[in-house]
Amino acid sequence: MKRNTSWIILLLIVFAAICCQSPKSNVDSSIDRKWWKEAVLYQIYPQSFKDTDGDGFGDFKGVVEKLDYLQSLGINMVWMNPFFDSPLVDNGYDVSDYREVLPRYGTMADFQEMLDGMHERGIKFVLDMVVNHTSVEHEWFKQSRSSRDNPYRDYYHWWPAEKGEPPYRYSLFDPEGAWEYDSLTNAYYLHYFADAQPDLNWENPKVRQEVYDIMKFWAEKGVDGFRMDAFQYVSKDTAFPVWPEGYEKDFNKYCGMGPDLHPYLKEMYEQVLSKYDIFAVSEGAGTTFQDAHDLVDADRNELQMAYHFESVGMSRTTDGYKLAEFKKVFTRWDSAFADKGWLAIYLSNHDNSRLVNRFGNPSPEFRTVSTQMLNTFMLSMRGTPYTYYGDELGMTNIDMPTIEEYVDVSALGDYGKAKAQGKDLDEFMVQLNYNSRENGRTPMQWDDTPNAGFTTGVPWKRVNENYKEINVAAENQDPNSILNHFRKMTRLRKDNLVLVYGDYHILQAEHPDIYAYTRTLGDQKMLVLLNFKDHDSSIELPEAKGIREILIDNYDGLTNENGKVVLKPYQAVVCKIE
Ligand code: GLC
Repeated sequence: MKRNTSWIILLLIVFAAICCQSPKSNVDSSIDRKWWKEAVLYQIYPQSFKDTDGDGFGDFKGVVEKLDYLQSLGINMVWMNPFFDSPLVDNGYDVSDYREVLPRYGTMADFQEMLDGMHERGIKFVLDMVVNHTSVEHEWFKQSRSSRDNPYRDYYHWWPAEKGEPPYRYSLFDPEGAWEYDSLTNAYYLHYFADAQPDLNWENPKVRQEVYDIMKFWAEKGVDGFRMDAFQYVSKDTAFPVWPEGYEKDFNKYCGMGPDLHPYLKEMYEQVLSKYDIFAVSEGAGTTFQDAHDLVDADRNELQMAYHFESVGMSRTTDGYKLAEFKKVFTRWDSAFADKGWLAIYLSNHDNSRLVNRFGNPSPEFRTVSTQMLNTFMLSMRGTPYTYYGDELGMTNIDMPTIEEYVDVSALGDYGKAKAQGKDLDEFMVQLNYNSRENGRTPMQWDDTPNAGFTTGVPWKRVNENYKEINVAAENQDPNSILNHFRKMTRLRKDNLVLVYGDYHILQAEHPDIYAYTRTLGDQKMLVLLNFKDHDSSIELPEAKGIREILIDNYDGLTNENGKVVLKPYQAVVCKIE
């Protein structure tokens, strides 16, 4: 009798253990689990996040003040745009010293306090490594330009003027092209971005060693990842041949993605990445899937994550985008990476205008639901979701109809190009007002006090006038806000690894209004239904017959008659299915 009881107790324990196992232990052991795959990333534009000393410019202490807010979002990784010493020609993407922080952000001790504060809350930190180019004010460049036989001359690309004018090179920011004449040594230097951002010569092993040392310097401080800025351009054809007509169509092929890129990455992996529990993501993923794969193929030991431009490449003009194309882009990229490699999922960042203006509907009626729908999308796809500060609130574009107000080097460069090409400048301004990256750089809207609680001084950039309605304090109070919906989604993703690793399968790809897909991992299956339109729309799906539980819904329920589902405008639903 006693024996029987012990058996029953033992069986009960085993049964309880099976029932109570965490969602994680249910996962197929063949899955290559990594913390950076399971993370939800939040991007902070430090200049605009929170100012504590009244100079109208965000700072590290401001981020420290908001650490609990970050934790409350359920994010567990932060990427911060560059905060190194810089003359700020391109808002920090022009670095004059990689081992110093810009004093306006605070001191290195303040940085460390911020980093430690994140780590205490389980939040990892990604550093923006801008090493395709430096600032003209970097000591290397000052040395390099000083004489032709200076030891730093080969740190950059120089074209001696006695060879004649160098073959044309396109500059992303400078209407006059990528070569700048420097009378000091009668030579031209190369700059793919602004003329204050000379390109480093990666063919010089000393340059590469400098970069790896800088990366180690920050890794030793405890950063957990690197975002490699404009990295596909570091390897280029330095014989500088004349480009053929129509090179624009294959821009990356001519400008970058040179044959040395992979050897450089392998070297970086050996020297830096392999030594720490750290990952690196490249900005830009080449021109083909093969390029992208090769960059992040775990067996090659180069980078770990890629982010491509095709998603944000849609909807660049006021004509908007087509849902059919949107689905195709995400489905194509997902299937290309289904077995190997890992992607970032994003729809906005500091180089783009606001999420809701480009992909949702900023009108008062639909701003909330459409932003919730887009956040549901990003947090239910395979890949690491990247959320840009303010998109968890549905912050919107600002209205800047005339060029005088613009300070961004890219906007000013594009304006110069449009003018030189004799384009209609009124039409150009309409487009710029819609797609300029300044739209995405306005101060964070914390509350309804002056300047949205961002600063007590004069903000470096005008605060969006809608801050009285759109702000953290207001959205905190409202259980149905975009902010609280975002929190629900991060929790759901964290609790359900199927949303991280599960296979993605699109349903009725050709449906004109609804984006529907399943995510499957082992015996777990989720159905995601997203209405991208401002009207009701229905879809008939056998999968919807098997809905067991609705886990997320930005409305009050779903009309579902035996698999025929009607979604309200921008309704977003995630459900467990059989
Ligand atoms: C990247 C950055 C962008 C910057 C450029 C030059 O594209 O995202 O903001 O202007 O590189 O560094």
